[in-house]
Amino acid sequence: MKIVLVGGSGFLGQFVVRALAAAGHHSVVLTRAPERVREFALERGARLVQADVYSPAALSRQFEGAGAVVSMAGILNETGFGGQGFRRVHVDLVQGIAEACRTAGVKRLLHVSALNAGKGDSHYLRTKGEAESLLNSAAGLEVTIFQPSVIFGPGDGFFNRFAGLLRLAPVLPLACPNSRLQPVYAADVAQAMAVSLADTSTVNQTFQLGGPRDYTLIELVRWTAHVLGLRRLVVPLPDAASRAQALVMDLVPGKPFSTDNYRSLQLDNVAPDNDLAEFGFVPSSVERIVPAYLGQSLHQQRLATLRQRAGR
Ligand SMILES: NC(=O)c1ccc[n+]([C@@H]2O[C@H](COP(=O)([O-])OP(=O)(O)OC[C@H]3O[C@@H](n4cnc5c(N)ncnc54)[C@H](OP(=O)(O)O)[C@@H]3O)[C@@H](O)[C@H]2O)c1
Repeated sequence: MKIVLVGGSGFLGQFVVRALAAAGHHSVVLTRAPERVREFALERGARLVQADVYSPAALSRQFEGAGAVVSMAGILNETGFGGQGFRRVHVDLVQGIAEACRTAGVKRLLHVSALNAGKGDSHYLRTKGEAESLLNSAAGLEVTIFQPSVIFGPGDGFFNRFAGLLRLAPVLPLACPNSRLQPVYAADVAQAMAVSLADTSTVNQTFQLGGPRDYTLIELVRWTAHVLGLRRLVVPLPDAASRAQALVMDLVPGKPFSTDNYRSLQLDNVAPDNDLAEFGFVPSSVERIVPAYLGQSLHQQRLATLRQRAGR
């Protein structure tokens, strides 16, 4: 089948394209800016296509002849503060994708949301929830929704970000240290998505995806320092200081941490009824996967993955 991915040019998208290729599918990955994701052109079984993803007409042209569409665009932070940035990517874009599916006659839609979508006070989670609601009530579509916890794997933004911070400073003041997370391997998420495509019993279902166990944030950050062989003092910040750190970071370009992230972290990011088991495989652990890539730069991680796949 031809599968069209919106938001598939990032970290998770590479894994999804590989899983789809392994299942015999051909992916068309839409991107707003192909020059930013040049390495993606090397992904086997994928074609990178520049498209105005906010134009339902442009989307429906790309969707024609597709067996399924994957909706997986997402941001962790917006430029402003009012939630409009999140709403544009997480809701308006998804609305356009649903509309374009109908115009192009594509019924099957896989959508990547997040654990806790629709809960709590963050714009991130609220808008993820709004998208789920609109897809759950979308007539004529066969939708499957995936709610992963934090996702890890070569090129991830979680372990790599903390590795970068730990390398920089001997002391790391950590906001929301006791938030619980259940990291899930990107290849497992992708595999679950590929399996669900072939399994019509997953239509109209939402799957919570987590790894084999959960950890507090500070456990994961201290373990990251240990894996890197760094002796670092990771200082747990109390709630008021966590909130203050978020307020300060809101003003730093690129928002390395934000009030919206702080709000998301008020909820444990765990999947007590981990649905990965339903897809028939055992989830991979951070202990098995992360040490192999953590010492490398992001570029090295990408190249190593590509070489491994090319058999070199
Ligand atoms: N990574 C995690 O830990 C995690 C955890 C839970 C859920 N998720 C969800 O999984 C999905 C994929 O995450 P990821 O880690 O692969 O993200 P990523 O690497 O940051 O990639 C994000 C993708 O979204 C698109 N995108 C970014 N900003 C956009 C905007 N303003 N308008 C339209 N498209 C935009 C990008 O496409 P362009 O090529 O057009 O820039 C890119 O393909 C997201 O929906 C995310 O919320 C991720």
